[in-house]
Amino acid sequence: MHTEKCTIKGLLSQLFTYKKEVLFGNGVAILATFLVVLIPLFIPILVDELLLGKDHGFITFVSQHLFTSDVKGYVFFVLALIIFLRFFSTLLSILQTKIFVSISKNITYTMRISLLEHLKRISLKEFEMMRVGAVTSKLVTDVETIDGFISSTISKLIVAVLLLLFSAIILLAIHWQLAIFILITNPLVVLFTVKMARSIGELKKEENKAVEIFQATLTETLELFHQIRAANKEAYFFKQSQIKAEALKEHSVNYGYKSDAAQKLSSLVFLTGYEIFRAVSILAVAYSDLSVGLMLAIFSYLWVMVGPTHDIINFQYVLSSAKAACSRIESIYRMEQEPQVIQQNNPFVGKHAIGIEVKNLTFSYHENKNILTNINMQIQEGMKVAIVGASGSGKTTLSNILVGFYPFHTGEILYNGVSNKALKLSTIRENIHLILQHPKLFNDTMRFNLTLGKSYSDESVKNALHIAQLDDVMERLDLGLDTLVGKDGIKLSGGQRQRVAIARMILSDPKVVIFDESTSALDVHTEVRLFGALQDFLADKTVITIAHRLSTIKNAEYIYVLEDGVVVDSGSPKELLEKDQSYFSSMV
Ligand SMILES: Nc1ncnc2c1ncn2[C@@H]1O[C@H](COP(=O)(O)OP(=O)(O)O)[C@@H](O)[C@H]1O
Ligand SMILES: [Mg+2]
Repeated sequence: MHTEKCTIKGLLSQLFTYKKEVLFGNGVAILATFLVVLIPLFIPILVDELLLGKDHGFITFVSQHLFTSDVKGYVFFVLALIIFLRFFSTLLSILQTKIFVSISKNITYTMRISLLEHLKRISLKEFEMMRVGAVTSKLVTDVETIDGFISSTISKLIVAVLLLLFSAIILLAIHWQLAIFILITNPLVVLFTVKMARSIGELKKEENKAVEIFQATLTETLELFHQIRAANKEAYFFKQSQIKAEALKEHSVNYGYKSDAAQKLSSLVFLTGYEIFRAVSILAVAYSDLSVGLMLAIFSYLWVMVGPTHDIINFQYVLSSAKAACSRIESIYRMEQEPQVIQQNNPFVGKHAIGIEVKNLTFSYHENKNILTNINMQIQEGMKVAIVGASGSGKTTLSNILVGFYPFHTGEILYNGVSNKALKLSTIRENIHLILQHPKLFNDTMRFNLTLGKSYSDESVKNALHIAQLDDVMERLDLGLDTLVGKDGIKLSGGQRQRVAIARMILSDPKVVIFDESTSALDVHTEVRLFGALQDFLADKTVITIAHRLSTIKNAEYIYVLEDGVVVDSGSPKELLEKDQSYFSSMV
């Protein structure tokens, strides 16, 4: 049963592991908020007490307890006090951001690491169906969305609620009727602007989607350019990109003017609300005992409240996008992993070679159709075995299963008597080297492609290149081992890439080697020389060769003939050739 790893609840409980930091950060945030909320209260002091001669008690307090001065002195004193409050509050809010950012980045870092760990062990079956772009975007964009959610929940939401609460209390104390008017109209106006912003967001999303589609089409066209030109289909493929470019233009125009209109409408509604409020306030000054200074303070609180109101109204959207991001991330966790095995003993330790026994193996990629049916094989330590069979008979599938790429439920493979079920896949792959028919190279140096990051002496690299018949190829590379091989090894021919893969195998010195048509792109002479050179190296290893050429398998000690996933015959080359030539008639 799959337990969900990315949920809002889970995120919040992760937050609790940073309890101390969260509490401290919120404390700092509350103090920072409290300091700025006080600032508008200085307006009535300046305006009412100093200009209009109305007494709120502040100047009297200062002159009795601190100092006496003229108007100038009090103005500078209040100014200094306000600047100090702003400065101090800014320092605190920098600190607060630092605390919250590091918490949220830590949580998202942990999330990325856990996703990478999951992907590392993903089963090949899942990988084959995976859309790489979708997975990478989950690790980048969706994790970022979660990050935004965490930092806005823990830092903004609490502060926003407190700011609103403080402001509301102060407003109610100053003039309760105006306060209620503000507390009702302000959220309505902000709600309107948030809704507007959402609909612009939708348009932006559509534009982004059009950009993505255009980009994907163009990327594919350029990546397959060689193929497209060979098929003489440039006109068709570039036309597709043009169509996507046109769609992109239409979405951009749509977004371009509608977003501007929505923004202007939002600010119109907002300013209208403000003007109405101003008129109401002036009436309040004229017809009630509200002072001019307090009226100006109320204006300031109106501005103070806009941001937090926005944060609170917007929270539901942040929450729902975080939920959506979580469920997309969850789909990575739902991908099946390779089985994890607790390994008791390692049959490869201290051996030069190893015997492999396949017992009653049946395998299918999809439930309905068996690709391999009841396969039995006995491959003794150090034996040289060949597997032949028509294309599609299941040879590659079988060799993939021998190195544990696909799990199977019927049958068993014994490695020196130890069942595959009791062996870690990494142990199997460390000792059994499968050379793929179409080896992939990294867009890196020749050296990296041979060593895959492990360090070997120059001598052993040279030796491997020599056995793999790559000496003259190396001579022609301008930077030798430091030559970059290009995307997918484009600078090398198919046969050269196959030989690089063989040299890689030589360096890793496995105990079992499986050649899956690994020399198919070589000419007969090079192939003969290659296997001649490999003879010593392979002498005491177990070797399984899948090949199409008679010459490649003639030296095998034992041959299995595969037909539609069934072993239909087996024996020494001599026996088989004498019995029935039909398997080999198509071979050269
Ligand atoms: N990853 C896969 N998913 C589903 N079916 C596959 C996959 N790989 C191979 N097959 C199918 O399995 C059968 C055997 O293929 P394969 O083992 O590659 O044969 P061979 O190597 O003998 O040419 C074919 O019918 C092929 O279509
Ligand atoms: Mg094959």
